Amino acid sequence: MNVLKTVKGFADLFPPQSNLYTFMENTARSVFSAHGYLELRLPILEYTELFQRGIGTDTDIVGKEMFTFPDRKGRSLTLRPEATAGVVRAYIENGCQSREKVSRFFTCGPMFRYERPQAGRMRQFHQINCECIGAPEAQTDAEILLMLMTFLGDLGIGNLRLDMNTLGCHVCRPAYRQTLDAFLAALDQDKLCPDCRRRLVTNPLRVLDCKEPGCKEITASAPAVRDHVCADCAAHFATVLDILDAEKQPCHINPRLVRGLDYYTRTTFEVVATNIGAQGAVAGGGRYDGLARDLGGPDVPGIGFACGMERLALLLGARKGGSLAPRPDFYFVILEEACAKRALFAARVLRRAGLAGTGDFSPGSLKSKLRLAARAGARYCMILGESELAKQEVLIKNMDEGSQAFVPLADLAHWASGLF
Ligand code: HAM
Repeated sequence: MNVLKTVKGFADLFPPQSNLYTFMENTARSVFSAHGYLELRLPILEYTELFQRGIGTDTDIVGKEMFTFPDRKGRSLTLRPEATAGVVRAYIENGCQSREKVSRFFTCGPMFRYERPQAGRMRQFHQINCECIGAPEAQTDAEILLMLMTFLGDLGIGNLRLDMNTLGCHVCRPAYRQTLDAFLAALDQDKLCPDCRRRLVTNPLRVLDCKEPGCKEITASAPAVRDHVCADCAAHFATVLDILDAEKQPCHINPRLVRGLDYYTRTTFEVVATNIGAQGAVAGGGRYDGLARDLGGPDVPGIGFACGMERLALLLGARKGGSLAPRPDFYFVILEEACAKRALFAARVLRRAGLAGTGDFSPGSLKSKLRLAARAGARYCMILGESELAKQEVLIKNMDEGSQAFVPLADLAHWASGLF
């Protein structure tokens, strides 16, 4: 029979890799909850319409990257390709607006995009996502950006560049679109890549952040959104930049940063790692002041970001994952079958006393058992054979020092407390 494998672009995460994910989530919980963000756990499956209306049908994500399929009654469902649309749907559906002026949420979990897998790009990947809904002012943009950079700093990740842009609002964007359309119409469009030729019709703004060198070159002098935004948007962006500057948070204005989702307005940003190659964007986000309204909800502003955990894991490195592995305090072994029940009870006593460990409750030679304890990396090997059992004691071997001592089984909890 053939051996079954994971779906292409989906991965099993074992330690030490999975330790990195736990570390990232725990750091996120601590940083984000200190900023008033509450954890949400949302469904990974949504009606397809949510993403069509939220992200936009002309985006690559909705156009060609979603895992979409009918349910048994023919309704179109999609595995979420991102979290923001779902968070805003949940916000509306649960009437958050009537309970609080500003809602702050974070979520961690898997997302799904049918992309070409490579290092840092998976079909099932994981995001840490933060959303602040209800606060229009620039101070919120600055605060969430500073929070993101604090989080990345607490993970211990360096060599990061914060790219920023503003995309204007529903007042100033249409006029900018006309200026951009006129610029694009005058180009030798045959020199654009096939994707950009399609975008000319469906989503011209996206031509600006095409990564193809040819497209970059011929659109180099394209009008920048930032030079065409209204006075309100310009002042909003200036305030964000001012606060970042005052907080000594460096950033780089990237006039071509458009982002791949259509809900963005005003501030947009990406955090780029300068040392992991092609898939360098480790986080991205921005303001989405029209999204709740577009999803049939109240006209409330929002801003948020998502970090890609696979890319952060690449930056943290497997060595870090290894060093995060908790070391077991003990490993319990028995030499004869008659000791198994007593050993199991004793291990439970040790855990109740605050130690962590497991064991091997099958009979075997002392040598093979010590090898198991060493492989588990335990600090102490607890050895119970028939002779120890008869005396109601256990032999405890210090695996680092090689020393050993007999301890009465009845004194195990006391012995454990001496380790702290
Ligand atoms: P995004 O830029 O599409 O934004 O994704 C955010 C991050 O997720 C990326 O910077 C990248 O690190 C990671 N990522 C995206 N696709 C993949 C993939 N196929 N494999 C591995 N990592 C990936 C959003 O998703 C928005 N919802 C962010 C946001 C939140 N905007 C406002 N609030």
